[in-house]
Amino acid sequence: MRVKDHQVLAVLAKLGVELKPDASLAEITYLGIGGTTDLLRLTRHESIPDVVKLLEANGMPFKFIGGGSNLLVIDGELPWVVLQLAQPDPDVVIEGNFAMVDASADLGRTVTMCAKHDLGGMEGLIGVPGTVGGALRMNAGAYGIQIGSYVREVKVYRAAARAIEILKGDQISFEYRHTSFAPDDMMLAVKLELPSKAFREILQGIRICNEKRRATQPLGQKSAGCIFKNPPGASAGRMIDELGLKGLSVGDARVSDRHANFFVNVGKAGAADMLALIADVRKRVHTAYGFELENEVVVWNA
Ligand code: EPU
Repeated sequence: MRVKDHQVLAVLAKLGVELKPDASLAEITYLGIGGTTDLLRLTRHESIPDVVKLLEANGMPFKFIGGGSNLLVIDGELPWVVLQLAQPDPDVVIEGNFAMVDASADLGRTVTMCAKHDLGGMEGLIGVPGTVGGALRMNAGAYGIQIGSYVREVKVYRAAARAIEILKGDQISFEYRHTSFAPDDMMLAVKLELPSKAFREILQGIRICNEKRRATQPLGQKSAGCIFKNPPGASAGRMIDELGLKGLSVGDARVSDRHANFFVNVGKAGAADMLALIADVRKRVHTAYGFELENEVVVWNA
């Protein structure tokens, strides 16, 4: 979808929106899949309600993107414009045991920034790709750690209220890969409270997690991390592996040989290939184990 109206373009510019016309989401998403649209980069949180009002008044559907690390987008000309936060400088400010982090900040860099200030707790999240906002929205976790445990305050654009709100940590529920935010709420910033820990000790934890990840996950390949959530008491990766589905492909979409819950784009996979592979694996797991696997990856379908 294109923003063509000159008046709309002028107002967007006044609201501090940087327009990237004809952006390819395949270049943004970690799966390397997705069509093209206009990308609107938001440089001022406070103007978001006005940007949304403007788009709605002009009948332009929109979606919010974080880092694109857990996202599968359809191909072709996309029927929405895409909004993304521009990264402020600095994007992480540390005061005592608190880290004030913009949602656009890279999660891994945030973990290391905090470590440099002797703030630990998030070591397990080091290799999780994407932004802090994306991690927050779905309560990213790894190696027994989830980001929600450290959240004290979230600044969020609430789609239902069409306004920016500050929520306290205890007003939000953080569950396994799920939060109480609405799907169209937009994370803007977060205040984390982290335990004091010596830098060296944090670094050691980070190294251990990195090694585990390197040994078990297809890093360096185009993927969205785990495709399915683990059902209670079971492991999606193990079930898919047990069924002998590693290497199963639809076009260039393929079940990773290293970790069966990672589906990789080994070339020019399209969204349809990846969606067909997801559907096929879901069906086979259901037939064999009776579990209806739920997507972990977020799908933007028309
Ligand atoms: N397993 C296999 N074959 C495989 C993959 C895994 O047999 O191909 C077995 C493993 O041997 C292990 C069990 O399944 O006994 C669980 O595997 P793993 O430790 O890799 O963890 P996971 O449950 O598959 C979860 C998260 C990952 C996170 C890791 C590490 C989910 C859906 N996945 O994976 O998160 O990195 O634990 O904590 O919760 C993600 O969210 O995208 C993601 C990758």
